[in-house]
Amino acid sequence: MKLDKNKIQISIGKNTSKSFYKLQVLFKDHFPENLKTKFSLQTSSGIFTGDYGQTFSDEAEKILYLGLGDSSKIKIRSVAQLFFPFGEKLKKWDGVGLEIHLPKILTTSLPADLLIYQIVNSLEQGAFAINVLSKEFRENSKKTGSVSFILQDAAKAKEAEKGLKRGKVVSRYINGARYIAHLPANHFTPEEFVSRSKEIAKDNGLKITVFDEAQLKKEKMGGILAVCEGSDKKAKMIILEYTPAKPSTKKKLAIIGKGLTFDSGGISIKPAQDMHEMKYDMCGAAAAIHAIGAIAELGLGVPVIAAIGVAENMPDAAALKPGDVYTAHNGITVEVQNTDAEGRLVLGDVLSYVGKKFKPDYMLDLATLTGAIIISLGHEAAGVMSNSEPLTTLLKEASQTSDERIWEMPLWDEYADELKSDIADIRNIASRAGGSLSAAKFLEKFVDSGIAWAHIDIAGAAWRKKGSGTQIGNGPTGYGVRLLVDLAEKIGKKK
Ligand code: BES
Ligand code: ZN
Ligand code: ZN
Repeated sequence: MKLDKNKIQISIGKNTSKSFYKLQVLFKDHFPENLKTKFSLQTSSGIFTGDYGQTFSDEAEKILYLGLGDSSKIKIRSVAQLFFPFGEKLKKWDGVGLEIHLPKILTTSLPADLLIYQIVNSLEQGAFAINVLSKEFRENSKKTGSVSFILQDAAKAKEAEKGLKRGKVVSRYINGARYIAHLPANHFTPEEFVSRSKEIAKDNGLKITVFDEAQLKKEKMGGILAVCEGSDKKAKMIILEYTPAKPSTKKKLAIIGKGLTFDSGGISIKPAQDMHEMKYDMCGAAAAIHAIGAIAELGLGVPVIAAIGVAENMPDAAALKPGDVYTAHNGITVEVQNTDAEGRLVLGDVLSYVGKKFKPDYMLDLATLTGAIIISLGHEAAGVMSNSEPLTTLLKEASQTSDERIWEMPLWDEYADELKSDIADIRNIASRAGGSLSAAKFLEKFVDSGIAWAHIDIAGAAWRKKGSGTQIGNGPTGYGVRLLVDLAEKIGKKK
């Protein structure tokens, strides 16, 4: 299963397509006098004044105008977002291009590399249609126009080029993660996860190890095995390893992902309403393998391991039952009181395995772990629970530059109180109160001491029912890829 190419051809400089629109970006408070007259004559439905998000198209001159509002209020996020709909349009513009003119004041108020990086990400995400199994998609998939940027401040061209190069790589992996996330469980099975991981490994010269059922048994990974008992699709653990040609640090980063290709809840079955969305329960694993691909392709200097636990959670005569007890990879016994709290069973084993085998300095896990995090944070941020302040700080910095929001939540010991079992070492659920926090405390039991670890609950950030806030389109967001790339870059600068 190959990763798709970029959807749009993007460059710095004049657009060379036969036909293209000029896109003029304008601030409300720096509005050219000549245009004031032009718009007052030409618009019938209100006058274009450069308000944030306002557009005006002059078909005769083939110029589009895009308003950015007040120049003192701009942020990279708010500017980049406006390009998502242009990406959507370009997807239908067979061979027609866009030449985006960026005024000097824009590239002096914001760093040009980050600005271009995020505009490219927005354009590419906008151009990626998620209706991949439809006739419309098949008919449109060969189309798309090209984009070029013209910077009024020519001195910033080099910086812009840097952002463009990075954006091209990262956006391809973001869309790659979105694509596999959006595929339904009958198309994207644990076996398909193996094939996608192999492609990413092949493209980037990564080492790959796939553990099948027999090897998982040999390694005593009781949690992963327990989860897949009810499914005809067998569980896997997939490990990708990136060793930089020229390492810039001695630190090692491990990224772990929850890869439930479907979570029906198992015997503790979920309500029918919205159950189809549980095809997205593999977004953490999708982010992990696509992030390591981007990190390797960018040639970052930090050694990275991506390890994903892949399974399908189904009810069946052979399925795990509430009350069953299994022995996890680290030897502790777990009473499963709710088979829908399955992600922590899978992640527990992978955290334990990776900690012991690779002894990483930093270990992260990304998981659509709890509905409770959506109650806490909605869809605008992922919740971060960590045993390490330095790692939390690094994540906050990476969140700033990558524009993927995180929010710190506590990992206090009291949240583990209710994980006590009267038959086994622990049980897999606590009460509803603080559900994301007891889930994190459960995971912590599988993290070896000395490892700086952070759990990132992406249940809210991983997909949207309808576009909102930072994600304009509906469906999977590819959350985590940009955050992890920036985190890896920051760790690469550590001694
Ligand atoms: N995959 C779900 C979490 C989830 C729910 C993500 C809704 C996104 C949207 C997870 O496996 C789960 O079912 N968690 C339970 C845990 C509970 C049984 C302790 C939950 O959140 O309800
Ligand atoms: Zn579940
Ligand atoms: Zn789940």
